[in-house]
Amino acid sequence: MRLDFKDIGNHQTAFFALGDLANLKKLPTSALGKSIHLRNSADPKQARFAFLFNIFNGSVYGDVMGMPPWVMINCIFQNAALIGIEGPAKYIPVAMREKIDTALAEMNSDHLKDDEIVPLAEACAIKTFAPDRVHAFSLYSTTPGLGSIAKAAMLDIHRQMGARYQTGTAQYDNASLAIHTKFGALDILQPQVALHTKHDRTFIYGCEIPDEAALLSIAMGHRPMLPGELKPEAIIQFDWRELEQYQNMTQRHENGSHRYVMLPPGIDAVTKTNPIAEIKL
Ligand SMILES: CC(C)(COP(=O)(O)OP(=O)(O)OC[C@H]1O[C@@H](n2cnc3c(N)ncnc32)[C@H](O)[C@@H]1OP(=O)(O)O)[C@@H](O)C(=O)NCCC(=O)NCCS
Repeated sequence: MRLDFKDIGNHQTAFFALGDLANLKKLPTSALGKSIHLRNSADPKQARFAFLFNIFNGSVYGDVMGMPPWVMINCIFQNAALIGIEGPAKYIPVAMREKIDTALAEMNSDHLKDDEIVPLAEACAIKTFAPDRVHAFSLYSTTPGLGSIAKAAMLDIHRQMGARYQTGTAQYDNASLAIHTKFGALDILQPQVALHTKHDRTFIYGCEIPDEAALLSIAMGHRPMLPGELKPEAIIQFDWRELEQYQNMTQRHENGSHRYVMLPPGIDAVTKTNPIAEIKL
C-alpha cells in the first residue's frame, strides 16, 4: 500500500518531532492541520527510534553522506527537532527493508518487525542568525510518496515559528531536486561549494517558503502556482559533468553578471540534467 497525505494520522502513521524537550515545547501543535507526535530524544524509550533514524539515513543515502550520530545530536536534537512521518515498518518496500535489515545486522541490532513504528521519512532544518531563515540539511524517505509530505510538514512547522525563507545544500544529480523544486524555483546562491564532501556537484539554494495553503496543496500531490517573477535570458539544460558549462555558470555568478534559478522538475530522470534559468543582471 502506498501512503499519501490523507493516510497520515491513520494506519498508525503520524507526523513526529524528535528532539530535546526544550525545543519540543516551542513547536506548534500541528503541521498541515494534523497533530504531531512529540518524541523526547533524551528519553531512553526513544533510543531505538533515534537509532533507527540514523540507520535509515545511512541506508537511503548509501554513500559518504550518511549522517554521523554526533551530527544528529548536536545539530538536530539540541538545535531544533527532526520532523518526519512515523509508521509501521511494513510500509517500507522490500528492497529498502532488506538494505536496512543488513545495516541493522552489522550493528548487532534487531531486524525490523512489521508492526514496529519507525521513522519512515524525515526532513529537518535548523534556524540561522536571520530570524526568518532556516537551513534545511537532511531529507530522506524509505517509502515513495512520503518525501514531499515530510518536507511540506517540516516547512509548515518552521513557517508557523516565523520562518519565511529556506536555504539548502543539494547535489545536481540528486533525485530530491524533484521535491525541492515543488516548493518554488530555487535561487542558486552558490553554484559550487568547494569544501563540501561532494564538491564537484554541490550547490546551495534559497527559496521562499510557500504559505500554508500552498504547502498543504503540495503535500496532497498538487502543483500550486507559486509567486515569483522570472525573465530568463535562456533556460539551460545544465549538466554538472560538462566542466566548461559549470565554470561559465560559476564565473558569471561570481562576477555578478548573471543570476541562476533552478526550475521544476529540478532534474531530468533520464539525462540527469537540470533546467536552469539564466538571468542577466
Ligand atoms: C530523494 C528521496 C527523498 C525521494 O523520496 P520520495 O518519497 O520518493 O519522494 P516523493 O515521492 O515525495 O517525490 C519524489 C519525486 O521525484 C521524482 N523522482 C523519483 N526518482 C527520480 C529520479 N531518479 N530523477 C528525477 N525525479 C525522480 C518522482 O517522480 C517524484 O515526483 P512526482 O511527485 O512529481 O511524481 C528519497 O529517494 C531518498 O531518501 N533518497 C536518498 C536520500 C537523499 O538523497 N536525500 C536528499 C538530500 S538533498
